[in-house]
Amino acid sequence: MTTSKSPSKSKQQSDSSSPALDNALHEIQPGSGRVDHAEEQRDNGGETHQQIKPGADHGDGTAHLTDNFGHRISDNQNSLKAGARGPSLLEDFVLREKIFHFDHERIPERIVHARGSGAHGVFEVTEAIPELTKAELFQKKGNSCPLFVRFSTVAGSKGSKDTPRDVRGFAVKFYTETGNWDLVGNNMAPFFIQDAIKFPDLIHSVKPEADRGYPQAASAHDTFWDFISLMPESMHMIMWAMSDRALPRSLRMMEGFGVHTFRFVNAEGKGTFVKFHWKPKLGMQSTTWDEAVKISGADPDYHRRDLHDAIDAGDFPEWELGIQTFDEQWAAKQPYDVLDATKLIPEEEIPVRIIGKMTLNRNPDNFFAETEQAAFLPTNVIPGIDFSNDPLLQGRLFSYLDTQKSRLGTTNFHQIPINAPKCPMHNFQRDGLMQTMVPTGRANYEPNSLAEADEDGGPRECPETGFSTFEENAERNDPTEKVRARGELFADHFSQARMFYLSQTDNEQAHIASAIVFELSKVTLPHVRERVVAQLRNIDADLAKRIADGLAIDLPEAAKPARKPVDLGQSDALSIQKNVKDILEGRQVGILFAEGSDRKTIDALKKSIEAKGGTAMLIAPKIGGIKLDGGTLEADGQLAGTPSVLLDAVALVLTREAAEKLTTDSAAVDFVCDAWAHLKAIGHDDGARHLLDHCHVPVEAGGVSEADGSFVDNAALRFFDREPDVRDLA
Ligand code: HEM
Repeated sequence: MTTSKSPSKSKQQSDSSSPALDNALHEIQPGSGRVDHAEEQRDNGGETHQQIKPGADHGDGTAHLTDNFGHRISDNQNSLKAGARGPSLLEDFVLREKIFHFDHERIPERIVHARGSGAHGVFEVTEAIPELTKAELFQKKGNSCPLFVRFSTVAGSKGSKDTPRDVRGFAVKFYTETGNWDLVGNNMAPFFIQDAIKFPDLIHSVKPEADRGYPQAASAHDTFWDFISLMPESMHMIMWAMSDRALPRSLRMMEGFGVHTFRFVNAEGKGTFVKFHWKPKLGMQSTTWDEAVKISGADPDYHRRDLHDAIDAGDFPEWELGIQTFDEQWAAKQPYDVLDATKLIPEEEIPVRIIGKMTLNRNPDNFFAETEQAAFLPTNVIPGIDFSNDPLLQGRLFSYLDTQKSRLGTTNFHQIPINAPKCPMHNFQRDGLMQTMVPTGRANYEPNSLAEADEDGGPRECPETGFSTFEENAERNDPTEKVRARGELFADHFSQARMFYLSQTDNEQAHIASAIVFELSKVTLPHVRERVVAQLRNIDADLAKRIADGLAIDLPEAAKPARKPVDLGQSDALSIQKNVKDILEGRQVGILFAEGSDRKTIDALKKSIEAKGGTAMLIAPKIGGIKLDGGTLEADGQLAGTPSVLLDAVALVLTREAAEKLTTDSAAVDFVCDAWAHLKAIGHDDGARHLLDHCHVPVEAGGVSEADGSFVDNAALRFFDREPDVRDLA
C-alpha cells in the first residue's frame, strides 16, 4: 500500500537517514488516505456520512476506508441491526473489529518515567576521540547518526502534569552504524540510591501511597520522606531534587547526565572511565515553585508543547555532549567512589570536554508509535563503550530488557520501528509474539554446515569487530569473594550533599530550604520530619536550622554519619543562577493589549523581541480582533487562557481606560501580580501604570521598565533580588 503524506507546515527536516523507520511507519499507517474526493451526506437519523463521490476512481485504494484486512467499508456510522430499532447482529465484523481494536488500544504505562515527550534528531561528532574509544561513531570529526530522545518525569502517571517537582529523564537512543547506543540518563548528576536492590523501594515510596492512591506526581508525602529519612545515601540527590533543577523552565533548558561511570575502551583494549554530560545551548533555566504549580493548572502539557512547538517552528533544540574521563589511578585517590551513583565528579576537578552536538529536528509523526513505544535499554552499548561495576548500573542492565517484555508484550519489541537498529541485524532468534520478520531458509541454529550444500547458513560471530567486554575486574576488588557489601567510601553520604548546597547562590539555597519545608510540611508523621532534619544537620548546620524554624520544631540531634564527611569546597558548575545565559532565544514574551492600545509600541516590541530570537505572544481579553489606532489586531492568546506563568516576560501596552477596566478582571490582575511574584521583567507604557499601581508593582523596581528596548534587554532574566519582597522563604 502506498499513502500520500500531507505536506508539513513546519520547517522540520525530514530525516533522510532513517529510511527503514519511515517506510515501515508509512506502509502500515491507516487512515492517511486522501479524502479530497469525498462528499457529505445526511442519512435518515441525521448522521453525517463522508463518502467517496459516486463514480469516483475506485482504483485509488488509499481514499477508501477499510477494515484491518483491507475490506472496504460502506457505512461507518451505523452498526448492522435486525431492523432499524432491532438488536445488533453478531455477524457485523466491521463493528466487532473496530470495538475490539479500540478495547485494546492502551498498553501498560512505564513503571517509572511514564510521562514523557520525544523527538527525533541527529548527533554529530565535533571532536574525534580514537585515543579513548574504538567506537566507530567517535573515530572521525563530522561522523553523525540519527537519534531519538525521550524526556520524562519519574513519579507521575502517563497523563500527569509536566511540571511537578521531580527528576527529569533524559534518554537518548543513538542509531549508530554499529548498533543502537542508549544513553539513559537524567537531568541530575547523582541518584538517590547506591544499589539496584533499593530501586523498587524508592519507587514504591514516591508513587501514590498504596492504600489511598494519591498523591499523583509528588514527592511531598509521608512514604517518600519516611524512606528518605532512613536512607542517608539519598541526601546528595535530595539537595538536587529540592533545588530548582527539579523545576525546569523547558526541556530545552536542562542539562543531562549519564549518572553512572561508564568505560571507554580503545583499539588497544585500554579502558578509561567516562562520565557523560549534555549541555543545553539555551542555557539552564528554572521556574519558581509557585509558578510551576500554576503552570500545571494552566497548561499541564507545558513542556511537551514547548518542545513540539520549538521543533515545529524550526527552532531546533541543541545540546553539546561532553565527557569527563579518568583512570583507575585518579579514581583511587578521590575521597568518594566513582562507582557510587550518588556521587559526581566536580567539573572543576575534571573539566567537561565537548565531543559532539545533538540537534532535535523532527517531531514524532505519531506519539504512540514512537514516543510511547520507544524502549530504552542501558544494555544497548556499542563496541568501544562498556559498563563499570557501579552496582546501580549493573541492576539496570537486567531491569530494562525485562520491563519491556511486560510493557510492550513481546520479546520482539526490538522490531518496532522506533526501536529497530538502522544497521544490519541478523541472528538465529526466531518466532515469538508479533513476529514481523520473515526469515527464509532453514538456518535457525548454528553451528551449521548448510553453506556446504549451497544453502544460506546465516550470519557468523566476529571476534575482530564484535562487542568484547573490558577484561579487568580487579580494580580495588577481590573477584574471588562473593559478598553482599558496599565499597568502603560508599559510606560517605554527606560530603557531596554539602558541596552542592554550598555551591548555590543565597537565593538558590533559600529555594532548597523552602522546598524541604514545603515537602516536610505535607508529611503527617512528626518523627519522619525530625529524622530528615537530623540527617540535614550533617550537610549544613544553617540549612538544618532553617528547616527546623520553617517547620516550627526543635532542632533534633544530628544523625550519626556512617563516615565522617570531608570538606570538598564548592563547585560553581552546580549552580543554575551562576551560569545563567542572558539570551532570549527559546523564550516567550507576552504583550498584553486591549482596545485602543498603541499599535506602534506593539509592533516595535514584537520586532525587537524577534530580532533577539525570542517569540512574541500577543494577548488580549478577546482574540478575534481588537480595535486599535490604525486598524484591528488579532491576539494569539485570550487573557484568561494565557496567564503570565506561561511567559518569560510581559509587556503591558494599554490605554489608561483599558488599564482601569482590567483592574476588575482577576485574569489581568493575576497576570501582572504573578509576573511580579515570579521575578519576571515587566514592561509598560504610561496607560498601563494604572494596572501596575493596582497590583502594587513599584515601577522603579529592578526589571520593571518602559515597554521599549530596555524591557527587551531584560526579558530573558529573572530578578531574584526581588524575591524577599514577594514571598517568605525559609
Ligand atoms: C536499579 C535502578 C533502576 C531500575 C531498576 C530502573 C528501572 C526502570 C524501568 C523499569 C523503566 C521503565 C522502562 C520502560 O518501561 O520503558 C525505567 C525508565 C527510565 N529510567 Fe530507570 N531504573 C533505574 C535507575 C535509573 C537511573 C539511575 C536512571 C538515570 C541514570 C534512570 C533513568 C531512566 C529513564 C530516563 C527512563 C525513561 C526511559 C524512557 O524515556 O523511556 N533509571 N527505569
